[in-house]
Amino acid sequence: MADIDGNQSAKNYGLDQPAMSRSFHIKGMDHVDWGMKDRLSRIFRPESGKTVMLAFDHGYIMGATAGLERLDLTIEPLVPYADALMATRGAMRTCIQPIHNKPLILRASAGSTVLNDDMSNEVVGVDIDDAVRINASCLAIQVFVGANGECSSLHNLVRTIDAGARLGIPTLGVTAVGKEMERTNRYFMLATRVLAELGAHIVKTYYCDDFEKIAAACPVPIVVAGGKKIPEFDALTLTYNAIQSGAAGVDMGRNVFQSESPIAMLKAINAVVHSGLTPNQAFDLYETEKHTLV
Ligand code: 5RP
Repeated sequence: MADIDGNQSAKNYGLDQPAMSRSFHIKGMDHVDWGMKDRLSRIFRPESGKTVMLAFDHGYIMGATAGLERLDLTIEPLVPYADALMATRGAMRTCIQPIHNKPLILRASAGSTVLNDDMSNEVVGVDIDDAVRINASCLAIQVFVGANGECSSLHNLVRTIDAGARLGIPTLGVTAVGKEMERTNRYFMLATRVLAELGAHIVKTYYCDDFEKIAAACPVPIVVAGGKKIPEFDALTLTYNAIQSGAAGVDMGRNVFQSESPIAMLKAINAVVHSGLTPNQAFDLYETEKHTLV
């Protein structure tokens, strides 16, 4: 190994080629460390730069949500069709087998439920050591901009960003919409930018008017939540509009697991996000898959 003599002489220095400086496929992430890029690349597919996250963390505030009563029965079969999973550690450890090798966006804020009118008082609910133990690819913190808990939730976000940064784990900031909170494009424009400025590597928000301006003004990728269950065609249209307006993917829950055919829905969403299918084309795919899967 440590030979000094008799080695081939090194000669291929590629003097005619500049050092590779390819820009990274994820917005705003050119200058983060290799480990963080590796984790982000597990979430956002390198070939499209986009992601389909399956969100099933609703139980942490809503209890046994429709479609999530038995995560082992309803969610486990969907896992192969998602790029990434957004869930609590309790759900993952108890109901999802550690065999799928899908990146986990770990719900790391906790502290309120829908029983409370003001849900904005959360804390950091996961120790960073346990996030590493469960092999989280990202940490997710809910932020209540403009609510009573604005300051404490922003504190949760920056503490988590710092803890994750020490280990190369990115943080996703969720722009929360509490029961009485504003849901205007002006609000989302402000909230998404605040989260990115504080260091969030991914921002999750809702689709709204002027979304292209919100996406343009947010220097990191935005993923769009689905919200309450709407007809499949409408959810595919929402996905299409979000992607066309600059979203880097979806983080969708109820419109998948409450669909009549969740696997068909995930396949159709995938086709919109990664292959640019129109809502009509994607709905045709949904219908075909739905009947094939029955
Ligand atoms: C729950 C969440 C969900 O992950 C988020 O709302 C996405 O799910 P849905 O598409 O059902 O809105 O943050 O607290």
